[in-house]
Formats: sequence, structure tokens, C-alpha cells
Amino acid sequence: MSAIVTAEGLRKSFGRRARSVPVLDGLDLTLDEGQVLALLGPNGAGKTTAVRILTTLLTPDAGRATVAGFDVAREPRRVREVISLTGQQAAVDDRLTGAENLAMMGALAHLPRRMVRARVAELLTAFELEEAAGRQAGTYSGGMRRRLDLAAGLLVRPRVMFLDEPTTGLDPRSRLALWEVIRGVVADGTSLFLTTQYLEEADRLADRVALVDGGRVVADGTPAALKARIGEAGIELTLATVPDAGLVATALGVAPDGTHLRVPTDGSVAHVSAVLRAVEGTGVTVESWVVRAPTLDDVFLTLTGHAAARPTRPEEVAA
Ligand SMILES: Nc1ncnc2c1ncn2[C@@H]1O[C@H](COP(=O)(O)OP(=O)(O)OP(=O)(O)O)[C@@H](O)[C@H]1O
Ligand SMILES: [Mg+2]
Repeated sequence: MSAIVTAEGLRKSFGRRARSVPVLDGLDLTLDEGQVLALLGPNGAGKTTAVRILTTLLTPDAGRATVAGFDVAREPRRVREVISLTGQQAAVDDRLTGAENLAMMGALAHLPRRMVRARVAELLTAFELEEAAGRQAGTYSGGMRRRLDLAAGLLVRPRVMFLDEPTTGLDPRSRLALWEVIRGVVADGTSLFLTTQYLEEADRLADRVALVDGGRVVADGTPAALKARIGEAGIELTLATVPDAGLVATALGVAPDGTHLRVPTDGSVAHVSAVLRAVEGTGVTVESWVVRAPTLDDVFLTLTGHAAARPTRPEEVAA
């Protein structure tokens, strides 16, 4: 696989040298062509700063980055020709209708009128905005605005799409819908560079996840590989009393934690049912049990020593 985005040793500080803390402190990453890379980190981790450098809006203090083989600092115009950027703030004109917003992007890109008309219709359908196409964008819901913003970035098909926190602030249903749309764009061959605070989002969309903390990538791999570094899934049991938990723990050969027990499992039906049968054999009452796979939350906590900041609970999305 060939790399379509690379960054090596990116550094960036803002403000006066003497006082400034580096926002990026040697950021390295690679996005392979046709894949999805999620830059995952809490508020202020430097995600937007990295995106601004990669999309030529900001010059790094040090380091090197390329997009589609072009150097972002030396060949910014070539880079801009092959990318689209959807930022944290929607770039939608409220006074224009959805269709007009898209048509304007086509005009700005100097596309032939007929081509714009066809592409606008195609995008309105793909993003489920046909019915609202004639309404002013100011009347759109948050989810509709995001979809329109995303569509605007796709009027000219980019080789690399940059999405800076595409679903922050959306309700779970709108987020799921947007994920579907994003998957469709990637299936059409566009490489995607995504930033997110949602561990669930990185898990669902990305081929690779780069965990950013303190301006560096502190862990990088497939969601599955990152989870594997944290450990396997576990059957978590809650018993009514501490003695009950002790009894079951002895039967299962694990250490109890108050009324709680955790039994590592490969998650197979055979293993889970064998464990549950052993529990049943002790005759004690089980208050609750659940099989829990490691989450990217666990990854963050283990690899950075602190929890990822998040404005809303990503678990709500999975429900
Ligand atoms: N132009 C600027 N001038 C001064 N400081 C800045 C500037 N841009 C960003 N910063 C600072 O750099 C740090 C990282 O900001 P950045 O926007 O890259 O974070 P982020 O990971 O995108 O966070 P969020 O998840 O909140 O969007 C923050 O402390 C921010 O205040
Ligand atoms: Mg940001």
C-alpha cells in the first residue's frame, strides 16, 4: 500500500517563544491510499492544528508533510487540488438554499455549469437532502448542515478528504447516518483523514487509529491491535454478597474484587457458556453478568495514564 498522507516530526507552537508550550511536538503519521486514519485525542490535543498543517492552512515550525506526494509547505497549490476539508465549523451559507450552497462550490471550483447541475443532484440524493434542497440552509437541523457541509467538500471528488470532528454535537441517530455517508465516500475510493474525540467513531470508521497526546502520536495501529494491547475481553459478574463472590471466584480460579469478578475470555460461545455453567454449579445468585470487550477508552487510559476528554458519551451511539 502506498502512503497518501505522511507527516514526519511536525512541530508547532503558538505565541511568544519563551512562554509557548508546543501544540505539536514531533507528530509522525501515515495514511495509506484508500484507507481511513482517525486522529484520536481529547480537547486541545492538537488535532485541528495537525489538520490545518496538512491542508496547507498553517506552516509548521519544523518537520515535513506530504499529501499525494506533494510537500504541503513547498507545493501547497498542488495539495489543495487533491483534497477537501470539512472543518469543525460548518462553512455553509445560511441565506442560500442547500442546492445553491452546492452550486456555489461548483462555481468557485470553475466547473462547467452542466457538470455542476448533475453533481449537485447526485450529492443531494446521496446525502438525503433532496426534499430540503430548496430551503434556506439556515432552517436546517444540525445533522442536515453537517451533511450539506460534507457534500460541499465532495463537489470535486477529492483524493483525500479531511474531516475535523465530523459528528461532534450530533445526536446518536444523526451520527450513525453520517457514518454511513462517510463509509460510502470511502467505498468510492477516497482516502479519509478524520479527527475525533469519539473512541467509538474511530473504532467504527477507521482502518488505523493514531492516539494523540501532548502533541505526539503515543499509539498507532488498527482498532483491534490497540485493543489487543490492553488485553482480552472479560466476563464480568456481580454477586449479591462478598462471600458469594468468594465462592464463585474459587470455582473459577480468579480473584474477586468485592462482589465483582472478571474472567478473561476469548468471547466464544463455548467458553462463555462453560464459565456460566460453572457459576451455576455453585448455586449462588448472580445479580448481573456481561461480556465486555476492551474499548478504546481502555486503550486511552492505559497508554496515556488519563481518560480521554469527551463532551458526550460515545456508548450512546452504539445503542
Ligand atoms: N492560532 C492559535 N493561537 C494560539 N493558540 C492556538 C492557536 N490554535 C490552536 N491553539 C492552541 O493549541 C492547542 C491545540 O489546539 P487544537 O485546536 O489543535 O486542538 P484540538 O485537538 O483540535 O482540540 P478540539 O478537540 O477541542 O478541537 C490548544 O491549546 C489551542 O488553544
Ligand atoms: Mg479541533
